[in-house]
Amino acid sequence: MKQTILIPSIEKLPEAAKSFIEMMGDATVFAFYGAMGAGKTTFISALCEALGINDVVNSPTFSIVNEYRSDTTGELVYHFDFYRIRKIDEVYDMGYEDYFYSGALCLIEWPELIEDLLPEDAVRVSITEQEDGTRLITMGE
Ligand SMILES: Nc1ncnc2c1ncn2[C@@H]1O[C@H](COP(=O)(O)OP(=O)(O)OP(=O)(O)O)[C@@H](O)[C@H]1O
Ligand SMILES: [Mg+2]
Repeated sequence: MKQTILIPSIEKLPEAAKSFIEMMGDATVFAFYGAMGAGKTTFISALCEALGINDVVNSPTFSIVNEYRSDTTGELVYHFDFYRIRKIDEVYDMGYEDYFYSGALCLIEWPELIEDLLPEDAVRVSITEQEDGTRLITMGE
């Protein structure tokens, strides 16, 4: 089933994140597709905030994965950015399976680059910037 959320502006991100959380169900691995600048990091940050994470959520520029902990539930959340990987070996070497199959929430930017390694039940999310600058989020196929 395909579900959508429209984000009219940055100010509406907390609301959009809450709607997203309601749609997440029991899934733990979410792959965020979208062009450069579409708003993946921005939305993941809002999502993490809505999950009670108070650390500043930056794009994981220097590492493939950042680990956050929710102050409300104590649960771990992993935020991946595969944009900079050059060889798939880097992904094997960082032990991607330990994260993807941990049961912890995994939020993935640039999943295109590790497509074959995504768990079968990973949920595809796409973010597109509309002509008017609003963002449209689509979950599921
Ligand atoms: N929902 C939104 N509404 C308006 N502007 C947004 C929204 N989301 C992101 N932006 C703007 O787009 C810029 C790029 O966003 P962001 O860094 O989240 O994109 P990204 O998809 O993570 O890009 P990259 O592929 O480079 O990681 C931000 O600096 C922000 O100003
Ligand atoms: Mg990003």
